[in-house]
Amino acid sequence: MLIEIAERSGFCFGVERAIRLTEEAAERYGEVYTLGPLIHNRIVTDSLQEKGIHIADGVEQAAGRPLVIRSHGVDRETEERANAECSVCIDATCPFVKKIHNIVSEQPTDGAVVILGDRDHPEVIGIKGHARCRAYVCGDLDEIEALFRDGVLSEDGNVALVIQTTFDRSRFLEYSRVIGERYRCVKIYDTICNATSERQKNAEELAKRAALMIVVGGKSSSNTGKLAEICRRHTVTVFTENAESLPGQLLQGLRSDSIIGITAGASTPAYTIKEVHERMNEEIKNINENEEDFAALLDQSFRRVYTNNRVKAIVVGINKNEAVVELGTKQTGYIPLDELTNDPNAAVADVVSIGDEIEAIVTKVDDSNGVIFLSKKKVDSALGMEKIAASKEANETLEGVVTAAVKGGIIVIYNGTRVFIPASQTGVPRSGKLEDLVKKTVPFKVIEINEQRGRVVGSIRQATKEVRDAEKAKFWESIEVGQKFEGEVRSIEDYGVFVDIGAVDGLVRTSELTWNRVGHPKDIVKEGDKITVIVKSFDPEKKRVSLSAKDPDENPWTKFVADYAIDDVIKATIVSITEFGAFAQIIPGVDGLIHISQISTERVTNIANVLSVGQEVDVKIIDIDTDKNRVSLSMKALMEDAAPADDADAE
Ligand code: F3S
Repeated sequence: MLIEIAERSGFCFGVERAIRLTEEAAERYGEVYTLGPLIHNRIVTDSLQEKGIHIADGVEQAAGRPLVIRSHGVDRETEERANAECSVCIDATCPFVKKIHNIVSEQPTDGAVVILGDRDHPEVIGIKGHARCRAYVCGDLDEIEALFRDGVLSEDGNVALVIQTTFDRSRFLEYSRVIGERYRCVKIYDTICNATSERQKNAEELAKRAALMIVVGGKSSSNTGKLAEICRRHTVTVFTENAESLPGQLLQGLRSDSIIGITAGASTPAYTIKEVHERMNEEIKNINENEEDFAALLDQSFRRVYTNNRVKAIVVGINKNEAVVELGTKQTGYIPLDELTNDPNAAVADVVSIGDEIEAIVTKVDDSNGVIFLSKKKVDSALGMEKIAASKEANETLEGVVTAAVKGGIIVIYNGTRVFIPASQTGVPRSGKLEDLVKKTVPFKVIEINEQRGRVVGSIRQATKEVRDAEKAKFWESIEVGQKFEGEVRSIEDYGVFVDIGAVDGLVRTSELTWNRVGHPKDIVKEGDKITVIVKSFDPEKKRVSLSAKDPDENPWTKFVADYAIDDVIKATIVSITEFGAFAQIIPGVDGLIHISQISTERVTNIANVLSVGQEVDVKIIDIDTDKNRVSLSMKALMEDAAPADDADAE
């Protein structure tokens, strides 16, 4: 007799995620409450109690304490109360259930929603509680048709049909065909969770071959109950919570070449499945001990596996082209390098080490040569696809390694799954080389999934945009006048330069580049220069920042005011001539104005006839305006000071 465990058995992604979030919360806060049992499995919830994870019957019981909303989700009102009344609310609603909440709540208020599922199930109650329009729960097609027959729903109306995630896919397909034909007004959303349908498909395939099916899981778990229902259509089925509850003499009357299948619901931990497996192994051994001789027993002690079985294996050898694995079978297992990983750059030793326990799918059993070929990447890919689908729902950013630049984009491997990123979504400019990304770890968002074709499309640009937007928001929250940045000159204009200070480019006007006189910004900086700048002012609305590159400690005005005073006679150099006067540099960074009326005791009509740029002149400081940083100079005052002496000489 052979025992076969269905490929998809035990915890699904959503349950695993809810348990992980709850355990993390318990570790952080010491104790935590879950709104109802975290999952429909008494064994698991008992063990969680020991970790400080308690069950609350309602929000009020967890008021002021940390509360976890379990993977089934809750109605909107309960969500709002949990957020308001509990010290912290951790939403562990499965992203696939969350998606249904969104569909339901987005329906127009004058429309209607029909939820196909079990009306007493918490997931269905939660979904109904998110509708903003009329919502009805139906258990089957008859109930949906009755709504139209009785005039509750109109064939001209706006009706959305969503499905409980664990609903039997074959029944759904049958119903949706009929609804599609008879009620054109119904928009059907296929919201059955793939983990569930895959598990149901695997269980059904196994049940068709098995003489006995054992379905393991909590008696109150709806998805486990459905598995049992599906298996019963094909073979004798036992529904048990654990190994202890299995009835005795289960194998009585079965043929010696019978297959005993085991499957388990989404809330069944791996150790419970293992215990059931071991118990059945014991039973088989007992029968064999009675019936078979030693040689036959030895032969039976070897496990048998078949093509497409998902198996656990231990890596016992590594060479350049393959990993050698031990499966507990008579044959030796081999996993060729290209079946180990999708990464063409990886070596066998990059993927597995001797002693690793891995999961793989049997691709070929070659009894004549005593070898079995397996694929690890198929398992990784299936798991990766599940995680990718969930991350798309949750709008999460993932990280993967770029393995190749191909026509039109790049390939990223995430958890063994190939993700294609079109060139336009890589963030590499047209002139850039996609090859430069190879072997780099990149963040990306999933933008498209085609599970049938195993195709996933991602975008690095969307992921980096989100990071940039967050950085920008943080920048505008924290910016202050006087704040210093190390920036990079991005572009140079006639009126100043734009400097990248992280989240934005700020403007340094020409006059703010240096304390000295500047002709053109190009005389001071070039693109790519790193400069230190200080925020002068900013406008979050217009997203503008004015910067200065002048170092306050080098302010020449401080030096000027300390060293010079009104009536001082000094030498200055003419630096520019205007219609109303000439500017003369006193010290670098401080120019004074010699107004046209202060150039001479004679009337001056054209300054250029009297002064020229670069000329050094004697001047008297006649005014200092420290508020406006202005100095007035006079040549005329010096002439007048000299005039009485000249007159005296003349006499
Ligand atoms: Fe599990 Fe979420 Fe599907 S809880 S069964 S992955 S809907």
